[in-house]
Amino acid sequence: AHILLSSSNLIHPNAEPVDPKIYGGFLEHLGRCIYGGLVDDPKDPSPAGVLEDKKEAGVLGEGELAFRKDVMAVLGKEGELEIPLLRWPGGNFVSNYHWQDGVGPFADRPKRVELAWHGVESNLFGTDEFIRYCRETGCEPYICLNMGTGSYEEALAWLEYCNGTEDTTWANLRRKHTGVDEPHNVKYWGLGNEMFGPWQIGYLNPTAYSVKAKMWAHGLKLLDPTILLVSCGCTGATDWDREVLATLLPFVDMHSIHNYTMFGHNPDIAYESNVFSPAGSERQIEICKALIDLTNHDRSQQKVPARNVKIAFDEWNVWDEKKATSKNGLTQVYDYADALGFIAWLNVLVRQHKDLGLACLAQSVNVLSPLLTTADKVLRQTTFYPLQLFSKYMKGGQLLQLPSFPDRYIGPTSPVWIQQNELQPAYIDAVAMIIDDSSIRISILNRHPSADWKAKFSFADFEVSKLDIHELYSDNMGAANTFEKPDLVVPSVKSHDAAAWSKMAEEGIVVRKHSWILMMF
Ligand code: AHR
Repeated sequence: AHILLSSSNLIHPNAEPVDPKIYGGFLEHLGRCIYGGLVDDPKDPSPAGVLEDKKEAGVLGEGELAFRKDVMAVLGKEGELEIPLLRWPGGNFVSNYHWQDGVGPFADRPKRVELAWHGVESNLFGTDEFIRYCRETGCEPYICLNMGTGSYEEALAWLEYCNGTEDTTWANLRRKHTGVDEPHNVKYWGLGNEMFGPWQIGYLNPTAYSVKAKMWAHGLKLLDPTILLVSCGCTGATDWDREVLATLLPFVDMHSIHNYTMFGHNPDIAYESNVFSPAGSERQIEICKALIDLTNHDRSQQKVPARNVKIAFDEWNVWDEKKATSKNGLTQVYDYADALGFIAWLNVLVRQHKDLGLACLAQSVNVLSPLLTTADKVLRQTTFYPLQLFSKYMKGGQLLQLPSFPDRYIGPTSPVWIQQNELQPAYIDAVAMIIDDSSIRISILNRHPSADWKAKFSFADFEVSKLDIHELYSDNMGAANTFEKPDLVVPSVKSHDAAAWSKMAEEGIVVRKHSWILMMF
């Protein structure tokens, strides 16, 4: 192949640069995500040194659980993963979560039966703790509302508790609990989680959901017009999404969609499912965007201005439901093949960035996460490193046109969704961006199981002064990082100067079979 890149050949010349919010995270009260992941687990306490200094200094409230310093060093805007935003408290959990259980003196907080994942919720981590976590990590908070067992009144009260600035009951309760006047200023609010699914407490049909969510949206925006509301979609490509968008588009700012690849896959084609299924999610984004356009088109027929509603892909990941089960708190050990599937996902998010208002990896710690913890250790899984490189380097730029790669995979994958839509993903999955006219970044995933790929490169109008190439490669699809061998699957990096580059460009860059490279000029 020959790749000719021109710094003026932008795919979307008018689009905003790639927003870091596509690298958002998600924290659910599930398994060991919160207790044991984010904060100390009273059943398996972390030793001194792991927990925040406030604990050592005795500054925490009576019964308050300390944040884990080691996990904070990874999450957060300034952390290793540079996570800009955190969605909380669920997930399925939220549909029976009553926020008032999780505020005020720790000794008074009720323990509740947890209906989504069948546990007991101690409520020791609640709204004020979540906001403190966000403030200390620099993350933007994104709260999902309980539209299952929660009431409209309760949702309004939660918003007032968080954002109220007047002398009112709920705002004053927050002042009493936090000891300061400053509101929590939560900008992003989700109108329920997966309200279409029979697994969701209080699930609805699309008409009933739309009527209810419209009423909630109206009241929430009256209370605080500065918030951004997210309607609850399905995969983006369903009748549910069509109907919900048709009703809610005037009232919301984003539309949430979810998808997990490898869920229900056929083990005989595990590799293919892993690396090609994200193409199905890309199609879902495109269809969802088309549904938004269609709704706007209907509005234009009625002379009503279009609304720039973006997609919130607020749950995405690789999830093998045979490995990560409700019983083990959705703990999945990710292997090398999963990391390749994960990279295909990241390429999709970057490529589709202009239609995404945000995206959240589900989830951030222990639950389907690139991070696993014990009481005193943090393990970076195979999926950790690609996420780290993307969130650090693949943002803030404009997408560059790449040639199409003709060699395509034609064969079974799962979900069958891909086959139904006759998608034939190319073996080479690449995305390129230019940042401030000064730096070009190209992510190239070679999904071919047995053939290396070689490309010559030339730049029409870009001077190369240096090049770093990060590579992720293993010859063992099943290789996984473990607490004993934490560095089995990690990327390597090599630096080249301009002279070395001109030779390499001419001879061609090889992307090995089933491997990924990130080129940074
Ligand atoms: O992330 C795990 C679960 O997957 C979430 O709770 C739910 O929203 C989705 O089905």
